[in-house]
Amino acid sequence: MESIKVLIDEETLQSKVAELAEQIMKDYAGKEVTLICILKGSMFFTVDLARRLKNVVNIDCIMASSYGENTISSGEVEIKLDLKNSIEGQDVIVVEDIIDTGNTLAYLLEHLQKKNPKTLKLCALLSKPERREVEIDVNYIGFEIPNKFVVGYGLDFNEEYRNLPYIGYLE
Ligand code: IMP
Ligand code: MG
Repeated sequence: MESIKVLIDEETLQSKVAELAEQIMKDYAGKEVTLICILKGSMFFTVDLARRLKNVVNIDCIMASSYGENTISSGEVEIKLDLKNSIEGQDVIVVEDIIDTGNTLAYLLEHLQKKNPKTLKLCALLSKPERREVEIDVNYIGFEIPNKFVVGYGLDFNEEYRNLPYIGYLE
């Protein structure tokens, strides 16, 4: 079993989620908000964020996957599971675990924009700016991290480690 080093501990993570929720509540005061969880990596983040919001909150999920593990840079993304409900006219916040090259989000945001939400914003817990290939406009960001492969709090390595309550990296 690989050894995991802690990059962002549970307490730091949770206070950041609380901070992001405060910013969102300020910006969306009195409004109903639709959170879109990008499966599977954003599950934990979406849940923790949602339960801190005092707004009326809808939650829907979408799943995307890139064609081929190592060819993400082609920017070819496939929707594996689309939203269940319409988001037309709604204030939508896409909740993402990590922005790496940006290809997945570039595709997903365009896909979601076609569904005519009233507003479409992005909340990402982590970002690896060094790896960016496509510019992504992030409205709410948790942490910028170095170019390491991270796991935990929803993020996996071969489907493992999602349930770690902190963000770690593989040595
Ligand atoms: P992008 O299209 O290159 O931005 O890739 C984004 C997706 O790749 C994320 O939503 C994650 O699911 C996955 N990913 C990118 N970096 C990591 C990492 O360090 N650990 C785990 N998953 C990652
Ligand atoms: Mg993801």
